Order: sequence, then C-alpha cells, then structure tokens
Amino acid sequence: MLTVAIPKGALLKDSIQLLSAVGLDFSAFLEPGNRQLQITDPTETAKALLVRNSDVPVYVEYGQAQLGIVGYDVLREKAPNVAHLVDLRFGSCRMSVAVKAASPYRSSLELPLHGRVASKFVHCARKYFEHLDLPVEIVPLYGSVELGPITGMSEAIVDLVATGNTLRENGLIEIDVLFQSTARLIAHPLSYRLNTDALNAYVEHIRSQIKDAIAA
Ligand code: PRP
Repeated sequence: MLTVAIPKGALLKDSIQLLSAVGLDFSAFLEPGNRQLQITDPTETAKALLVRNSDVPVYVEYGQAQLGIVGYDVLREKAPNVAHLVDLRFGSCRMSVAVKAASPYRSSLELPLHGRVASKFVHCARKYFEHLDLPVEIVPLYGSVELGPITGMSEAIVDLVATGNTLRENGLIEIDVLFQSTARLIAHPLSYRLNTDALNAYVEHIRSQIKDAIAA
C-alpha cells in the first residue's frame, strides 16, 4: 500500500487538503484531540504517517513512506537522499538572519568576527557564514531561537520567517535572507523509478492539481 509521510504543524492542513484533492482522505489527523500517528484512507488505497517536518525525509529515505511532504528548508538543512518532485507552492517562508532591532547591525557582514549565531538550522547557517567568509560560532538550539539575541547569548539568529510576527513581537528585525522556502513533494528514489504502488499516477495527479491552482 502507498504510504505518505505528512508533516505536523504549519504544513499539515494544506497537505491534507492537497491529498484530499487527489482522492486520499486523511482528514482524521485534523480532528480535535487526534492522537493517531498512522491512518489508512477510507478507500484503503493509502496510508499516512504523521511525523515532524524534519523527520519526513527520514521515513522517505528509509522507504517506510514512498512519498512525503516537507518544507524546502528541511531539504536544504539535511540534504536527504530523496527525489525532489513538485514545488507544492504552500508553506511560503524564508530563511533569514535576524538581530535585535536595537542592535547596530544592518547586514550579516556587519556582525562581529567570532560573534554567535543561534539556529535550529545549523548546517544552513554554517554554510551561509562560510560563504560570506565571516567566522562566527553557530549555537545549535531546538526552538525559541529568538531568545538568543534577547538574552544576549548570541548577536543574531538564522531562522524561518513567514508573517514576521514572531520577530516583531520579540523586538528583532531581519537583516538578510538566505533562501525562500515552500512545501515540496518528495519520493523514495527507487520506488519512484519502479513506480511502486502506482506512485507515478499520484505524483502526476498532484502535479496537475498544483498547475490548475496556479492557472486559476
Ligand atoms: C517558525 C520559526 C519562527 C516562526 C516564524 O517556527 O522558527 O519561530 O515560525 O513565523 P512568523 O514569521 O509567521 O511569526 P514554527 O512555528 O515552525 O515552530 P517551531 O519553532 O516549533 O519549529
């Protein structure tokens, strides 16, 4: 049976809506109080696994899910061995450098040599500052990274910005953008090549849904 790994959190609702448009109903994940992590769609043609955004490529890479929906930010951070198939257009956000609005820094290059940058996206942050040839210490955090500059632990953060509300409410401003991100459809490379469980038909159906949505 086809298995799809879908992400908890910000991408969940749009992911379920997209899958429902191609005939797969996993809306049970959206029911209040749901604790189920694996469900089969009512037509019994596919299963879905509910996992953290950053774990989606793991299930796809190891073949427990043939398809997955995940943010491009995760693909950049983890570089998993999966096929990148479709830009799903939802979940728009950007990976940015931010500092305290009250700080003197207005671009990454103005940050102090050997200063600290807190991030959940350690690999992306490290690459970015290496590219700038600016030596900084990357401080790995798992969440609430805005507290880095607020508490004085770090001069800056590298984090996702969508509406910008989190930065604003914490007195931070964006000074540079590393890249833009959206949700992507990914597949297990071998399953995609061998068309296991009629995978390609679902992929094409999803692709045409996205095209129709863009044309509308
Ligand atoms: C992301 C990010 C920011 C917030 C930005 O966190 O780390 O904190 O969203 O969104 P905004 O610009 O619309 O305010 P997310 O909600 O993904 O939660 P997490 O920290 O648990 O990963």
